[in-house]
Amino acid sequence: MADVKKIAVIAGDGIGPEVVAEAEKVLKRTEELFGYSFETEHALFGGIAIDEKGTPLPEETLEVCKRADAVLLGAVGGPKWDSNPKELRPETGLLGIRKALGLFSNLRPAVVFDCLKDASTLKPEVLEGTDLMVVRELTGGIYFGDKLRRQGEHGEEAVDTCVYNVMEVERIVRQAFEIAQIRRKKLASVDKANVLETSRLWREVVNRVAPDYPDVEVEHVLVDNCAMQLLRRPSSFDVIVTENMFGDILSDEAAMLTGSIGMLSSASMGEGSFGLFEPVHGSAPDIAGQNLANPIATILSLALMFRMTFGYSDAADAIEAAVAEVLNAGHRTGDIAVDKSKAIGTTAMGDLIVAAIRK
Ligand code: IPM
Ligand code: MG
Repeated sequence: MADVKKIAVIAGDGIGPEVVAEAEKVLKRTEELFGYSFETEHALFGGIAIDEKGTPLPEETLEVCKRADAVLLGAVGGPKWDSNPKELRPETGLLGIRKALGLFSNLRPAVVFDCLKDASTLKPEVLEGTDLMVVRELTGGIYFGDKLRRQGEHGEEAVDTCVYNVMEVERIVRQAFEIAQIRRKKLASVDKANVLETSRLWREVVNRVAPDYPDVEVEHVLVDNCAMQLLRRPSSFDVIVTENMFGDILSDEAAMLTGSIGMLSSASMGEGSFGLFEPVHGSAPDIAGQNLANPIATILSLALMFRMTFGYSDAADAIEAAVAEVLNAGHRTGDIAVDKSKAIGTTAMGDLIVAAIRK
């Protein structure tokens, strides 16, 4: 009997519950096929937690996460809570859970599936061979620096502070080097060192640790230039490492190379194997509850969990192969369908993937 792995499941808001339900079907199928054993515990988070518990990140949700080996998250947020004060916003819960669980590293792979090249707004010949990973620092920088409002000489002012210390930069940069070592051994460190002091520190750290990874080729790319190169030569990137806000922006851009943000998985990791796995897309309130959402990003996030937290690469491979098989057979949800009239729903996509998983 395999040991039982504990997964905290947080469905969240909008399409979150729908896409998570499909990933749970996949979870069950891999138990049957591979003999693994999982125990899931559901918890409230985001807008639904605000409604039911008065806070986006209830203490008991954090406890559920802390006693789990990994967290599977759907999506949080929606217009209903958009005008709430900061402490009562789903996004505040998201930042809080990242910080509380020490998840300083956010990995966002962007892979262009051959059969989906037409779904992208970029020319297929530009996309050819694109397979990159954005490694985003997740618990520092301007997201977490001091913020304030004050009266200045010209009236009301707002301040957001961007702070990074050497430790914070070094741990994420080293992780990115290690990821590059098991990929194509190329690392692009993205900063704004021509303007920002935090970026100059970032670049110094990269240059200092680089000799420890002699097999990895490093380039420094300014963030504005990187945004441009991602559209011009996406396939030339392997691993991109960058600070929190640049990573937020560039990972959305990288996501669109693949045609749909509905395809992209992500992992948020700390020092050990514990991680939080979630689709890159948001809660898409406009299509929530209509069986229209693409569950692939969440299903691929589960595969990422198997690989990174549990070391179950056989099951991860099988899930990824099943997704590719279903796409190759021409099945599409609305977001990736060229002919929208032929699009299938969330549950149908989940069922097809479940049926295609083989040992
Ligand atoms: C993301 C999101 C979040 C972020 C928001 C919702 C706070 O955009 O995970 O990329 O900026 O980190
Ligand atoms: Mg974002």
